[in-house]
Amino acid sequence: MLARPFFVANWKMNMLSRDAGRYVLEFRRLYKVAESGLDDTVLAPPFTLLPVVRDELGGLPGVLLAAQNVHAEDFGAHTGEVSAPMLRELGVSFAIVGHSERRALYGETDAWVSKRALNALKHGIRPVICIGETLGEFEAKRTKEVLTKQLHGVLEHIPDEHAKTIILAYEPVWAIGTGRAATPDDIAAASEHIITTVQKRFGPAVDKVRLLYGGSTSPENIKEIVKVPGIGGALVGGASLNPQTFWSLIENARSVAAKS
Ligand code: PGA
Repeated sequence: MLARPFFVANWKMNMLSRDAGRYVLEFRRLYKVAESGLDDTVLAPPFTLLPVVRDELGGLPGVLLAAQNVHAEDFGAHTGEVSAPMLRELGVSFAIVGHSERRALYGETDAWVSKRALNALKHGIRPVICIGETLGEFEAKRTKEVLTKQLHGVLEHIPDEHAKTIILAYEPVWAIGTGRAATPDDIAAASEHIITTVQKRFGPAVDKVRLLYGGSTSPENIKEIVKVPGIGGALVGGASLNPQTFWSLIENARSVAAKS
């Protein structure tokens, strides 16, 4: 685990301006109490709320903004898409790419994910690249095979110079939003495989793979999850929608990190 775990709050398609304003106000209050200073907490609201969250955060040190997706090109005929330069203009530092909901519901492929991640990197946005197996693949014990294939695909366009900038998120599809997080043993097996595969791909260019876990994380289970070797934090969905719950999750993880 990294010395200080890293968290991304994926709000998905939730909240309106008023809710976001209240959320950030409360989160700021809690965050101040801990006197946090490192850039280790990221909020990923829907596109429309990015300026609201940015303004409400008011430059709070340690908390940065992420988009939930980013297009592979800068401008052009791509109705409904949002590009990296547009996100930069809003002060966005990270972008989730290849979330399983994007893959399953909107047909995003590994090749697309790779191109989206690359363009984000070109504009100084760090991609949080999601990978993970479905329930059928998990039950058929095909997790490693699936992760290898996804990693080769999503890293295809990423040059070695960006190896240290990317963040990977292992999100078993069957664990997302189900209340059934993967066990520490399953996460450990996947984490080891991901790190070995990424290190093989980039060679000495990457000494440390930044890897998060995502899927039904909670303030209760996070302590065990961040103890898993190689896991440096979490991509949090449901538990990030309430500022107190998200903050408890962060605090619980930090209490483990502080002891290790
Ligand atoms: P969850 O979502 O924490 O609600 O399972 C995680 C995610 O989809 O990133």
